[in-house]
Amino acid sequence: MSNMSSNTEFTQHLSNILSHSALSFAIGFGIRLGLFDALATFSQENPATAEALANKLKLKPNYVFDWLSAMACGGIIEVDSTGQNFWIPENRKETIAGSTDPLFLMNLHTGRLASGFEDVLKVFKKDGPQSYDMHKHAHGHGHGHQSYQDLNAAKHAALKKYFKSDYLAKLDMTEKLESGIDVLDVGCGTGMQILELAQLFPKSRFIGFDLSEGSIATALKEQVIKGLKNVEFFVMDAKEFKSEWADKFELVISFDSFHHHNHPERALKEVHRVLKPGGLFALVEMEGTTNAYKDKEKRGVLAAYTYSVGLYARKPEEDPNAETKGMWALWSVENASKMLEGAGFKDVKAEKVKFYELNVLFLARK
Ligand SMILES: C[S@@+](CC[C@H](N)C(=O)[O-])C[C@H]1O[C@@H](n2cnc3c(N)ncnc32)[C@H](O)[C@@H]1O
Repeated sequence: MSNMSSNTEFTQHLSNILSHSALSFAIGFGIRLGLFDALATFSQENPATAEALANKLKLKPNYVFDWLSAMACGGIIEVDSTGQNFWIPENRKETIAGSTDPLFLMNLHTGRLASGFEDVLKVFKKDGPQSYDMHKHAHGHGHGHQSYQDLNAAKHAALKKYFKSDYLAKLDMTEKLESGIDVLDVGCGTGMQILELAQLFPKSRFIGFDLSEGSIATALKEQVIKGLKNVEFFVMDAKEFKSEWADKFELVISFDSFHHHNHPERALKEVHRVLKPGGLFALVEMEGTTNAYKDKEKRGVLAAYTYSVGLYARKPEEDPNAETKGMWALWSVENASKMLEGAGFKDVKAEKVKFYELNVLFLARK
């Protein structure tokens, strides 16, 4: 950038990066400590002081004051001219208070990335450990269990908001699900989607499996809490499904799992094998490319988020037994459609989904 105005613009860009990254961490503190929820009980007419908020939550007033000031300067909440009185504007309360907005909740995840910083520095190096060894954590990211819970909370919130109106509407399987069919979830994690389906459609039968014992243990606990009898969970690797499942399922679903797989192409063939003829595979995946030019054009700065967070993820291609060449890259609409067709699927379609900004829903028929 050569002229003065673009230099000023670039300086502004740099200062935005710095402030927004710190602000995102601070938002995470607020969500976790219940500060936004407590602040939502105040208003412009009856604003909160740091002292009042700190007393309510048994926190230290000086910390609460700095936090409130950060939120006000960052345009999240409002402050009056004394700099002492704070409130959330009414039209923002729905997003901020109760902290159920997925995009807002993702700030918890950003904050947690800090704990993985030293590990990522190590895996970057040629003679450093492989991400696969470094990030033994079962779900595929290497930055601590709490981080996964945070991500899960954000996903759950999104799911609740859009499951029926967006996801189920796009599958167009509601009548069949109501009458009773067999459904499989590949890489179901803690089972949030399959449990939601099992609750909505008591006449259908659901199976979820995942490589991670810990995730399946959580899924089983949730199943007991919800008292659902129409779901089964297994610990299993997607490279080989049960032989007796051939032609069994009317619907196979998967959320955000295939980009972690060591053998994604084999798993796609297995999905095809276990579907009934005419059955539907609904695959939710990252919408990846490895073309930063295209990504930037399409998603703007949000594309930088995907690549940056990708640095913290386990790279399946580093597993010595893996048959894959990279995570996001495989799941570009173009490439994934070819892979699905290669596995025998027909009528492959890719649709944008509302429940997670960075995902795409592939619909494919056997
Ligand atoms: C990002 S999590 C998504 C979990 C869940 N579907 C959800 O949306 O919450 C990715 C999941 O894929 C699972 N996974 C990775 N490789 C797998 C494999 N080869 N077979 C089965 N599951 C696998 C991980 O254990 C993890 O639970």
